[in-house]
Amino acid sequence: MSDKIKELISKMTLEEKASLCSGFDAWHTKAIERLGIPSIMMTDGPHGVRKSNGFNLNETVPSTCFPTAACMASSWDRNLLQEVGAAIGKECQAEGVSILLGPGVNIKRTPLCGRNFEYYSEDPLLSSELAASFIKGVQSQGVGTSIKHFAANNQEYRRLVVDARVDERTLREIYLASFEKAIKEAKPWTVMAAYNKVNGEYCTQNEYLLTKILKEEWGFEGVVVSDWGAVDDRVKALEAGLDLQMPGNGGIDDKKIVEAVKSGKLSEEVLDRAVERILKIVFKAVENKKEGFTYDKEAHHELAIKVARESMVLLKNEDNILPLKAQGTIGIIGGFAKQPQYQGGGSSHLNPTKLSIPLDEILNIVGDKAKVLYAQGYDLQTGETNVNYISEAKEVAKKSDVVVIFAGLPESFDSEGLDRQHLKLPDGHNIIINEVLKENSNVVVVLMNGSAVEMPWIDKVKGIFECYLAGQGVGKAIAELLFGIANPCGKLAETFPIKLSDNPAHLNYPGEKDRVEYREGLFVGYRYYDKKEMDVLFPFGYGLSYTKFDYLDIRVDKKELDENQILKVFVRVKNSGKIAGKEIVQIYVSKKESNVMRPEKELKAFKKVYLEPGEVKEIEFTLDKRAFAYYEVDVQDWYVEEGEYNILVGKSSRDIVLSEKVYVKSLRKLPKTYTRNTILYDLKDDPKGKEIYNEIVEMIKKSFNFSSSNADDTIMMFLLQTPLRSLVSFTRGLISGEKIEMWLRELNKQ
Ligand code: BGC
Repeated sequence: MSDKIKELISKMTLEEKASLCSGFDAWHTKAIERLGIPSIMMTDGPHGVRKSNGFNLNETVPSTCFPTAACMASSWDRNLLQEVGAAIGKECQAEGVSILLGPGVNIKRTPLCGRNFEYYSEDPLLSSELAASFIKGVQSQGVGTSIKHFAANNQEYRRLVVDARVDERTLREIYLASFEKAIKEAKPWTVMAAYNKVNGEYCTQNEYLLTKILKEEWGFEGVVVSDWGAVDDRVKALEAGLDLQMPGNGGIDDKKIVEAVKSGKLSEEVLDRAVERILKIVFKAVENKKEGFTYDKEAHHELAIKVARESMVLLKNEDNILPLKAQGTIGIIGGFAKQPQYQGGGSSHLNPTKLSIPLDEILNIVGDKAKVLYAQGYDLQTGETNVNYISEAKEVAKKSDVVVIFAGLPESFDSEGLDRQHLKLPDGHNIIINEVLKENSNVVVVLMNGSAVEMPWIDKVKGIFECYLAGQGVGKAIAELLFGIANPCGKLAETFPIKLSDNPAHLNYPGEKDRVEYREGLFVGYRYYDKKEMDVLFPFGYGLSYTKFDYLDIRVDKKELDENQILKVFVRVKNSGKIAGKEIVQIYVSKKESNVMRPEKELKAFKKVYLEPGEVKEIEFTLDKRAFAYYEVDVQDWYVEEGEYNILVGKSSRDIVLSEKVYVKSLRKLPKTYTRNTILYDLKDDPKGKEIYNEIVEMIKKSFNFSSSNADDTIMMFLLQTPLRSLVSFTRGLISGEKIEMWLRELNKQ
């Protein structure tokens, strides 16, 4: 393969090579017929195939609209994501699509980001693992993926120009980590470089991101493709590692590449390397193409229902109002019951093969066992209500034994290109909920939205289901959960704050002019709320079930290990309720004593497990070096601090039920340079500095004529903050400058 490609490249003219580095049109690469190089097609993504004939978003072929990433992530189910990926891969094959533009793995820095529905989580481990499974699924069908948007594309506001200023440790531990595992493990065929800048340079021409980290450090061998229209300086981008520019622009930028090579500004080798990567993917796509492929539309619709069912999150169930019984009179209020909100706006918007309607599915389940009343409640587009809607809704509420209100966000709130202005539901939705509550206290709210919302009525309603944007199977999935035909088993992949201003990015979003500073650093999502000990509406990792799980015990296979050893953690969980269910068991790691700032705890492993009533299962987790490490900028590498770590087992990030301690030995010493400005505190417990510290203390005592009084202890506390250089004056020359130089030579000896 690679010999064949090298030979082809040797036969290509400079112009032909340059031509391959940009698209033919919006969705195709260029062909070179003379050399038998075909063109391949790529389309959005990410939760289904959006194959269109041009830029017209409305003209797309029907395809299965699976739950959006925000929804699917709440399943925490790797196998399920792989299954969805494989199904989408099959649909790509059937449509002649070689690369799906997804998954999206940008971290949910603020719940306002209009594209949060296309992203998985606020946590990089969860996001990256789910993305890896999704990619494996798509690519198992001989279809490539494009993990996007690399990197730090966490807001839509000024997305084409904004410069995300992120410190290196935060970039590595949060924003890049969401890509890293998926890229290393699942090897997507392509990576999409984002529109924005990171630390002063556009992602499409950011050598640090595209070449140093992605290609050299992570070993990515595929193609780096630009987000659509993201290239500023084509030649600079090519040099930085951007292989393919999309969409095509009639060859304007190809000419610039040719000129740059001719003038000696750009080495032809750089161009050859990009061409080689592109050709590898093109031929791989062609070899894997399955002509005349068809897929089972009905089976994919059923899969969409299953995934939605496994992803929706039961947030509240007071007085066990749920599951509902098919009896008496059931009031269904809210236009989303008839016209559900199940996907967001922008390039991911699909034309579904079918749509399952909640009200129809409720009527199917209820049959003639109960009476169902309906009122629309609000305008579907604007979300506003009026006196007629209100009086109809109150009438229904009055006559019903229980009321289910469908509420959420109209499409204009969850859309590419726009961020939300606030976390509120449309006024009309909140008004309807409050008005209905005046007539009936048995109220369940079903929410359809792409990201966290505020819930001012939370204490007054008895039940809440978070559906997110659940794809074309939304209706059957929510109906089955409401009536207990299925048992809820999703948990939140993001924190729901009580109010917008609680969000850690609040003071530094959307930034000033074209610059946004990520000043909250590592403290994104639960990492922040935990550290600040803040109340939240619903924590990361939270979700209820109709059964009950007891966590029996935790066991580790060793209490002491070195950083290269694997730690095995075993947790026994029992389903102590009366029905079968699935539980998502979460392992967090925490280090209390540390020389660097650390979140209270971080998610390092998770598993979803199915348990029959009364069944007990022991679940095994493995933790490797990365579970204990932080990114140490001084050595530009992951570093494990020696010491005690807590292994925490949680039902959610705020419900830790078991824990165990382990001691991890570090195999690496961080280089340390001691200077005249090193303070005594830094010598006190330092293996190298300890003796010198003791010597200094003795000399200070002598110079100050210390007894052992409290006052002397206070002076000592004060002196701990003192730099070596000041000791000369403090001891009135008893400690000389020469002595300090001598100590420094000793301390800095290798
Ligand atoms: C979006 C990408 C998408 C591309 C092609 C861009 O505007 O940011 O996510 O894949 O368009 O539609």
